[in-house]
Amino acid sequence: MTTQTGNEPVYDLNTSAATWRHFWHPVATLDELRAAKPGGRGPLQSKLLGEMIGIAEIGGKLIAFEDRCSHRGVALTLGWAEDDGLRCKYHGWCYGNDGSCKEVPSLTPDQPIPARARLKQYDCEERYGLVWVRLDSSVDTKIPDFLGWNDDTMHCIMGEPYQWPCSSGRRMENFMDVTHFPFTHWGTLGAPPNTVFPAYPVDQKNGTLTWKTDTYLAHNPGDDTYGPPADENAVMLPPAEYVIEVPFSIILKFTWSDSFATQIFMHATPIDEYTSRSYWFTCHTHDQSSDQIHLQLQDMVLGEDYPVVASHTPARIGDPRDEVSVFPDKPTIFWRRWIRELDAGAKRGPEALREALNQVSIESEDAQPVS
Ligand code: FES
Ligand SMILES: [Fe+2]
Repeated sequence: MTTQTGNEPVYDLNTSAATWRHFWHPVATLDELRAAKPGGRGPLQSKLLGEMIGIAEIGGKLIAFEDRCSHRGVALTLGWAEDDGLRCKYHGWCYGNDGSCKEVPSLTPDQPIPARARLKQYDCEERYGLVWVRLDSSVDTKIPDFLGWNDDTMHCIMGEPYQWPCSSGRRMENFMDVTHFPFTHWGTLGAPPNTVFPAYPVDQKNGTLTWKTDTYLAHNPGDDTYGPPADENAVMLPPAEYVIEVPFSIILKFTWSDSFATQIFMHATPIDEYTSRSYWFTCHTHDQSSDQIHLQLQDMVLGEDYPVVASHTPARIGDPRDEVSVFPDKPTIFWRRWIRELDAGAKRGPEALREALNQVSIESEDAQPVS
């Protein structure tokens, strides 16, 4: 049963940190862990949902732990990984990958190690070259599916993670929003007068929100990477499919032609109430173009988004009544509704959270299963 203490941070839409602790979030790339300390096994400090955690590879096992030594509360990530243990830098206590304290150097062999001398651990797994952590394992949530990663026809490149001064919710909403294209991305992904977008049917099932968008005339002067311009100053953005795995993962799939498809995967990890770190990949069908072109396009788009998204007041989504929504904001409205339902479910307990996660609502008649 999740409980609120009244002191914990409040996240988007007044939801609780306790709710998002039930979900998996990447906290570092595997490369970042490898580079953190000589030997390549960490420890590496990270922050998730306001909590300082550490990750390390101990005895061949990837572990995540509260970054706090049970002796005097020092950050364990100041210490180092040994073949079979994690050593604290303060007084040298050493913890095994099962959380037990194996050695207290100041004790003689006949003096017992207190049973409470333990490392507090969390669920930890490597997937897609990222280190994923779940702080609360009382509900059997899963690591989000990354469709392109499992698609043999796609080549996926990991982008540089970026930390923005906005909540995960603000980052997610920016990603799922198309009506900002002609303004924030004027000349890159769109331009006036092409500003009107339909409210596409949104389907909710299997923990995902999905919707499809039509071809869209987007001005993109001088760049024919994604096909011949419709006129000298424009290209057509092809049909797209958005797949959101609640709460904070999103995939955007573009089908440019029978033989050319691209896909962007992003997970916005909640560092704290007002900060998110996004892990992302850009994927494309083999050998159509160089990796660099896809990374450059994303860099350009992110550079255009940043000043806008970093300027939100407040930096997390507050009371929806303090903002004005319109019809084409539909995807964000659906996402907000589900986020609030997940939070309400989590407060009632694991079974209610499971129920909230598995609810179904199909708007589109021809909804295709996500594959
Ligand atoms: S604080 Fe870690 S060994 Fe003393
Ligand atoms: Fe954008």
